[in-house]
Amino acid sequence: MALFSNRHIERIVILTGAGVSAESGLATFRDADGLWEQHDPMTIATPEAFARDPELVYRFYNARRNQLPEVQPNAAHKALARLQQDFTGNVFLVTQNVDDLHERGGSRQVCHMHGELASMLCQSCAAVMPAVADYDSASHCPRCDSRGKLRPDIVWFGEMPYHMETIELQLADCDLFVAVGTSGVVYPAAGFVRQATMHGAMTVEVNKEVSEVTGCFHQQRQGPATVEVTALVQELLAD
Ligand code: APR
Repeated sequence: MALFSNRHIERIVILTGAGVSAESGLATFRDADGLWEQHDPMTIATPEAFARDPELVYRFYNARRNQLPEVQPNAAHKALARLQQDFTGNVFLVTQNVDDLHERGGSRQVCHMHGELASMLCQSCAAVMPAVADYDSASHCPRCDSRGKLRPDIVWFGEMPYHMETIELQLADCDLFVAVGTSGVVYPAAGFVRQATMHGAMTVEVNKEVSEVTGCFHQQRQGPATVEVTALVQELLAD
């Protein structure tokens, strides 16, 4: 339990977005050099795009997956893992990110609501399996042996995010909701701050700049995630 802004905090929900991994060298989506500045998301990240041009989609996700070993978790990932480990109350970490930097930063519980680059999903038998190579339309499902049915295990635009029931239960029960490095453009994640507020939680945003939902938060901490998350975790553990 911690005293934070004169409130007793026992249950914390942390939502992260691409900004938490930016200082590790992974592009965000909507910053000036972001992925959606270089690619039209409607040609890459929808089920229709995959049906239309699977090779384009495979190349995009193969390249993102192959970049992961070249980057390292940063101080923000590590601070959140420390909070999960040392906080005497409950810390639930939900991320929109598909990278594995929270886990490599030491987090044992990470809820990937938009899926993971580290796994593939078979559209024929629904098996989910570790991604072990580059994939294309000739790839076979190791379970059902169908060909060309494996897709990146990523939640695309127009699809329902994973684990929504668990996430909503956590939001309904938390004392503190923190959003780190997310632009507040994509729902349902962008609506979590309102849900948490509705249930009486204190809400804090960490972002290097103003987001689409900054005005919904009780507190905004503006600056790089590595600096602001480390300071916030220190405060929460100080008690
Ligand atoms: N420290 C803190 N915040 C940062 C940093 C940093 N070093 N770098 C960038 N940011 C902030 C930006 O200001 C921006 O508000 O991170 C946010 C990144 O926003 P987006 O690129 O829109 O990423 P995100 O919010 O995670 O996107 C949500 O959209 O494209 C879909 O499914 C995809 O999960 C993704 C979802």
